[in-house]
Amino acid sequence: MVLTLRRVLITDEIAQQCIDILKRNGIEVVKNTALAKNKGQLLNEIKEFDGLVVRSGTKVSADIINAGSRLQIIGRAGTGVDNIDCEAATRKGVIVMNTPGGNTMSAAEHTCAMMCAMTRHIPQGTESMRAGRWDRKKYMGSELYGKTLAIIGLGRIGREVASRMQSFGMTTIGYDPLVSAEESAEFKIEWMELEKIWPLADYVTVHVPLIPPTKNLISEKVFNIAKKGVRIINVARGGIVDESALLEALNNGQCGGAALDVFLEEPPTNKDLIAHPLCISTPHLGASTVEAQTRVAEEIAQQFVDAAEGKELIGA
Ligand code: NAD
Ligand code: MLT
Repeated sequence: MVLTLRRVLITDEIAQQCIDILKRNGIEVVKNTALAKNKGQLLNEIKEFDGLVVRSGTKVSADIINAGSRLQIIGRAGTGVDNIDCEAATRKGVIVMNTPGGNTMSAAEHTCAMMCAMTRHIPQGTESMRAGRWDRKKYMGSELYGKTLAIIGLGRIGREVASRMQSFGMTTIGYDPLVSAEESAEFKIEWMELEKIWPLADYVTVHVPLIPPTKNLISEKVFNIAKKGVRIINVARGGIVDESALLEALNNGQCGGAALDVFLEEPPTNKDLIAHPLCISTPHLGASTVEAQTRVAEEIAQQFVDAAEGKELIGA
């Protein structure tokens, strides 16, 4: 299939390389990030474009797709396509593409950094020193060495997290319905059913897409059977960890710490969770590195160019 891409609209902050590649290939580009927060205007503007490039800020709902009378392709400069109504796009014959892999290393490194920072109370220590205090006793940490890390979702990011945390001396166990025990063993991850995982894990990190079976995967029921003091890391998607259950578990001591990069609503509305002394958080920064953003910008632009030249497509 060959697409006729004359005009492409970009509505989220994307590295300049995306614009440069599209323009070099004769495609007119309009970047207007204000449209991500102005649905009425986006509904109007989208009519004028053959392609749309977004990150996670723009909600590409069915009405936006249907309003795009000449829209042929939507590109997500990143991994998750949960902000795009892919069913509506398919119904209308609009191609949805992502750039899986472009931000894997950055998301994996961010996960490991959050795990270390949470365990040694680095954000809280920094905050206390900024406030002029010298609290050496208050922030007693623990070692990662010898602890068990459960990785739920053994895809690109889960595997990279495993190898990094193994170098800290952690034992890695995990679950993924599409990965066999033999394949997991190749990454030194012991595959287990979820019910076996919960009572064993000192840390649980999730690296799954947000889909009906993973919604509230970490729930009150899980906290009830997990090790007391289990720590939770979510650099995947808000909604995989039940935020109310997490707050309750932090309050009653069943959860010993949480490191969150993603939230049910972004920016988050559960202020008590963010303010909890045992919760550290970042504003969806998993893929926010120069390297990852350059990669995903170049990849999505090149995929658009390839589509316009009738080359093989990479779908979401
Ligand atoms: P991936 O597709 O490589 O891996 C996801 C894995 O989850 C797959 O192996 C799949 O089989 C598995 N899975 C699906 N359903 C499952 C279930 N019910 N239980 C256990 N495993 C299940 O994806 P990835 O590139 O590793 O990305 C993982 C997540 O991280 C995605 O949600 C993505 O959107 C998110 N992400 C976030 C950031 C960020 O900035 N915070 C950056 C990149 C990716
Ligand atoms: C992704 O799914 O790739 C992440 O949300 C990263 C991002 O685009 O910020």
